[in-house]
Amino acid sequence: MPVEIRLFMCRTDNFGALLHDRESGETAIVDAPEEAPILSAIEHSGWTPSMILTTHHHADHVEANLALKQRYKLRIVGPEAERDKIPGIDDTVEQGSVIPFGNETIEVIETPGHTAGHVCYHLPKSKIAFTADTLFALGCGRLFERPAPVMFESLKKLAALPAETVVYCGHEYTLSNARFALTIDPDNAALRARAEKIEALRADGKPTLPTTIGEELATNPFLRWADPGVRKHLGMEKASDVDIFAEIRRRKDNF
Ligand SMILES: [Fe+2]
Repeated sequence: MPVEIRLFMCRTDNFGALLHDRESGETAIVDAPEEAPILSAIEHSGWTPSMILTTHHHADHVEANLALKQRYKLRIVGPEAERDKIPGIDDTVEQGSVIPFGNETIEVIETPGHTAGHVCYHLPKSKIAFTADTLFALGCGRLFERPAPVMFESLKKLAALPAETVVYCGHEYTLSNARFALTIDPDNAALRARAEKIEALRADGKPTLPTTIGEELATNPFLRWADPGVRKHLGMEKASDVDIFAEIRRRKDNF
């Protein structure tokens, strides 16, 4: 694959990521949760970052923006809808924006819900998506700035990506997400098998990423609004898809 990714932990449970195009040598940092681990990842890689791709304005995604900008003279890309909240932002993007990146192009998918302007970054050629705090492994982001119907539409966009798309998200929440998912979809054999794998990975201190869109469609309750087993378990066989999603999100808030 022409594109390479380095994944590492920041803060307590944030993922940091470096994205590198081998041919052009171009490197992007996906969100900037914390300076020291990002510097260390850059140093180990030997790459020189030219851009930060910001997904949303929360402090645990932009904290190191200014320090990294000063050090590497890189440009900071982020959602137009949050331009006033993202430190050091140079270029803004919106639904359908395309960012050239070596031999790749990075497409912007607007996914409001967690925040009003949250965006995901999708590399269609390499089939990679950075979904930050919209879609987690076995979970989805909390609805801080937009209600459930808006997040539902955002998740539908991600669910429509090719199943083999490799997904990197913003936090290592997978273990607690798995435990919650089992309360919604207890008879799902794929979910039970995945939950066991996740328990083992976390017991070894290993990350649970990446995942894929296909794996999430099969096991993530926040994408399984249409599944008869989930609907039956919730006692909501006749409810609309969005009402199923909203109910699962409500239960997770109280889990
Ligand atoms: Fe966030």
